[in-house]
Amino acid sequence: MSRGIYVVGNWKMYKTAQQAADYIDELDPAAKTSSISVYLAVPFTSIHPAARAAKGTHLVVGAQNMNDAQEGAFTGEIAALMLKEAGAEFVILGHSERRRLFGETDAFIHKKIQRALKDGLRPIVCVGEDAQEREERLTEDVLKKQIAECLASLDEESMKQVVLAYEPVWAIGTGKSATAEIAESAHAFCRQCIAELYGEETAELIPILYGGSVKPDTVTHLIEQPDIDGVLVGGASLDPKTFSEIVLNSESVK
Ligand code: 13P
Repeated sequence: MSRGIYVVGNWKMYKTAQQAADYIDELDPAAKTSSISVYLAVPFTSIHPAARAAKGTHLVVGAQNMNDAQEGAFTGEIAALMLKEAGAEFVILGHSERRRLFGETDAFIHKKIQRALKDGLRPIVCVGEDAQEREERLTEDVLKKQIAECLASLDEESMKQVVLAYEPVWAIGTGKSATAEIAESAHAFCRQCIAELYGEETAELIPILYGGSVKPDTVTHLIEQPDIDGVLVGGASLDPKTFSEIVLNSESVK
């Protein structure tokens, strides 16, 4: 499988700098040197200590948000170059919590993606429908619109750096994961949307991750699906033992 497998932990607003360093010490050594891609999206203040603790391992440290400007008078915001210098190599953009709680639009997320790519951070771009949209059978409309507006008009080479994450809002933090079959159908649709924008060849190269209540015992069946290239893990990434288990179970799939 040329796209590889990704296991990405999203700590959200958990863990101080000290707790971040301790967590990395406590990860299973086999998870730290795994042959799959193991990423940790940590709070801003934990990026530097986490990156330092991850030296000599295969772990990749990143951020959960950033501003679209290179720099400027934007009190309380943070720039891609600042994250990069602190040790971040990627950034999660368009997470549903940012869309829902902080009013981020597809147009704003699109600008952030462009900035991340320009300033050397790999964007993990989140899309997904909420419970009502699923109930009203609008999932594909929502995904198509989010993908088109967030990923419009990137140049081909930039697009190849993007990782997409399908995170149905109804599955986030609820313990109610999408079944592997539901997730696979959404992933295949996302890949088709990318193909319509950038062609089949590029669409085949883009990793698409599933997020929403992933646990050690559900990860294997998810990753076995042809269009699921990994997982984005919230709650279950906070405990180093549970996250290690998710990494090792994922590694055993392909
Ligand atoms: P949970 O794994 O806690 O459902 O969170 C998923 C998520 O939002 C990852 O970005």
